[in-house]
Amino acid sequence: MKIYSKSLLNQYSQSLTYDDISLIPTEISRIKSRAETKINCEFLDLNLSLPVISSPMDTVTGIEMAKALTVQGCLGILNRFDSSLNEVLTKKTDGVKGVSIALNTSLDDIKKLAENGYIICIDTANANNKEVLKKTEEIKKACDVKIIVGNIAQGDSLSQLEISGVDAIRVGIGGGSVCTTSIQTGIGIGQVSSILDVISKRDEKKLKIKIIADGGIKSPGDIAKAIALGADVVMLGRMLAGTRETPGEVIKYADQLWKKYRGSASFGVKMRNEFIEGEETMIPYKGAVKNVIDGISDGLKSSMSYMNCLSLDELKSKDTFAVLSNSSYLERLPKK
Ligand code: IMP
Repeated sequence: MKIYSKSLLNQYSQSLTYDDISLIPTEISRIKSRAETKINCEFLDLNLSLPVISSPMDTVTGIEMAKALTVQGCLGILNRFDSSLNEVLTKKTDGVKGVSIALNTSLDDIKKLAENGYIICIDTANANNKEVLKKTEEIKKACDVKIIVGNIAQGDSLSQLEISGVDAIRVGIGGGSVCTTSIQTGIGIGQVSSILDVISKRDEKKLKIKIIADGGIKSPGDIAKAIALGADVVMLGRMLAGTRETPGEVIKYADQLWKKYRGSASFGVKMRNEFIEGEETMIPYKGAVKNVIDGISDGLKSSMSYMNCLSLDELKSKDTFAVLSNSSYLERLPKK
């Protein structure tokens, strides 16, 4: 079997996603226990306990989720439709560190967010757009603030994004679990190939922009893969959806508890007969988000102990991947 480095994987003839690859532990690990591994990281001047940020979706990050994630050492990005957005605009809200805005959010409002020390995320579907670059430049001229924009599927525009003032870029088009963009438009490539392309362009051009692996992450193992590919942090929608802290009611149906999860471009959000690029679904109720975060932390640490990595930087430097045949992939799944 061929062992793929990131560079070889990036040249693979087809577009790849998380289920197509696997990490190969080739070294004798010096790690005695998972507890020795450190999964903290620096992200846009924040010290995160683990490399996880929440998606600014209306069924994922309301104020309660943003605060709970801060307690867990992650970053929550409050969705721009949230009823608490006005409160966040007017005063520094404890425990809230990130906020999403629209392209047409006024500069006055953005200045208030900057003064209150929030990171802002310009929440659009396509970062490769003149309006997004113009808005980023405008904001950077007017205030001192860290800016996340999204999304891109490929890295050719990375220098322009960084020059316009983008501090972190969301990578992934079409990979979100409630995303119908690829079906509706034919756009998008597999997440692994997207991340590899963007990171190789960043390294080639010696850029500083942070990379957020956004969409399609289903498990702690996918998070380990994303970081090993070189992503700085992951952005989660579905993995956090259905937890107690997400906005919305718990619903009882067919003897089970559920919560709603929907795309930002779904009919339920737009409530208009516009072009729809997102689905709406129900997720089994998961209880406290802390349980999900603990599971991610354990999985990531275990992966690092297999891979002989004490820190996330060591994990990012790993260069031993397998491309799985479909049967190898199926073999990896637990059997009933
Ligand atoms: P998930 O973690 O796989 O559920 O993906 C979450 C990501 O899907 C978000 O962070 C967005 O990048 C993307 N996304 C959210 N809503 C939509 C939508 O309506 N259409 C397309 N992509 C979406």
